[in-house]
Amino acid sequence: LLRATPATSSNFLTPELAQSCIDVAGGTPLYAYSLDSLAKSADACLAFPNAYGLTVRYAMKACPNGTILKYFLSRGICIDASSGYEVRRAMDMGVPAEKISLSSQELPTDFEELVKLGVKINCCSISQLERFGEAFANTSQKVGVRVNPGVGSGGFSSSTTGFSKTNVGGPSSSFGIWHEFVTDGTVPAIVEKYGLEVERIHTHIGSGSDPAIWQQTAKLSLSFCAIWDTVTSLNLGGGYKVGRNPDEKTTDLIEIGSPVADAFKDFAKEHGRELKMEIEPGTYLVANAGALVTKIQDKVSTKSSSSDDGHIFLKMDAGMTDVLRPSLYGAIHPITILPGSGKSEDIGTDVESVVVVGHCCESGDLMTPKPGEPEALEERPLRTAELGDIAVMDGSGAYCAGMSTKNYNSFPESPEVLVTADGEVHLIRKRQDPKQIYENECDVPDGVF
Ligand code: LLP
Repeated sequence: LLRATPATSSNFLTPELAQSCIDVAGGTPLYAYSLDSLAKSADACLAFPNAYGLTVRYAMKACPNGTILKYFLSRGICIDASSGYEVRRAMDMGVPAEKISLSSQELPTDFEELVKLGVKINCCSISQLERFGEAFANTSQKVGVRVNPGVGSGGFSSSTTGFSKTNVGGPSSSFGIWHEFVTDGTVPAIVEKYGLEVERIHTHIGSGSDPAIWQQTAKLSLSFCAIWDTVTSLNLGGGYKVGRNPDEKTTDLIEIGSPVADAFKDFAKEHGRELKMEIEPGTYLVANAGALVTKIQDKVSTKSSSSDDGHIFLKMDAGMTDVLRPSLYGAIHPITILPGSGKSEDIGTDVESVVVVGHCCESGDLMTPKPGEPEALEERPLRTAELGDIAVMDGSGAYCAGMSTKNYNSFPESPEVLVTADGEVHLIRKRQDPKQIYENECDVPDGVF
């Protein structure tokens, strides 16, 4: 897990490149994304083994920046949205409605209009299916059904350093229609009552790199496809685990995909129907393409001759406002200290055991938790840092800019830059103007207090 010798560059940022990012973004903190890395992960997903055709959908919740959406779109990758707002955001960025599917915890109020525009809605609960049916009764409207297949994968394990809460199948998960309501006739009766046409089955079980689990899920999910002969595609969701840290394995998509593709072939033999496959990864496409670039702005010690349980704390100028995963899940992201001057020859080789914390007035704003234990701090050996040095947090492409406490302590949202393989740096989101944080607040009339 921990680097024995201090690294002189992050996953993709050399000191010089990190400095260029800082110049383009107008200071730290910022998120940098590697176009080369996005390209490689896109290549791998587009090569996912399949029998009769594949649609890759980018789960845009992982990192919703419009430039990233447009890049994936240019590669022939469609979009998976998780709210009506995400659908509208993708459309505003130029993604055609028919390239967007929606699997949401709530049907957006404008779902009828979205369907008419071509957005593919997967109903994720019985009440969603009822509402959909009422809106499109007897129109043979095509619909998707998200099923909870009763198995989950991923989730908490204190020995799994890449931990995230992605176990979204099984009886403890509220996502999707419980499979027994699909197989006992309840869901088919609703479909029939409203004269709908089930075109798509969707299952997403969480994260896992075990081929046996993917095969089991594919077989189970295909059994739901057998219920309606109108089904033309099966979406197996996302959840391909990536190794953010050097000792963690990234899912081998060929290894997990091959038995899945075989299951599609078996289905075709048995039922005479060749189903298209859809996958919708978020993490896999963007996690290791992103890094948070911050500055060490303070170093605080609680070590003294009278106590041996003190620590040296490094304080970043970023925190849970930018990357929430360590303080929410106890997720481990690699941190590399680069020299503040931007010159690699300034890199020292001394290592110091430190606890890295964020800039919020909040003891939970911890950047180096114990794996899986967000509240327990852990010391990490890092290159001895001076104030002003750059600290790069890798693995920050997925669920970081898109999922953080954002404006806690009134910190503005950090800018985002895209780094090309030639080292060009492009601004893809400006730093938020602090006034934007409170511009929607309203005054109460005089006399209320
Ligand atoms: N499709 C559906 C229906 C999903 O619910 C998700 C993620 C995905 C696709 C993409 O899954 P991925 O490939 O990114 O694992 N905040 C957590 C991850 C939450 C994932 C929720 N659903 C994290 O920081 O790891």
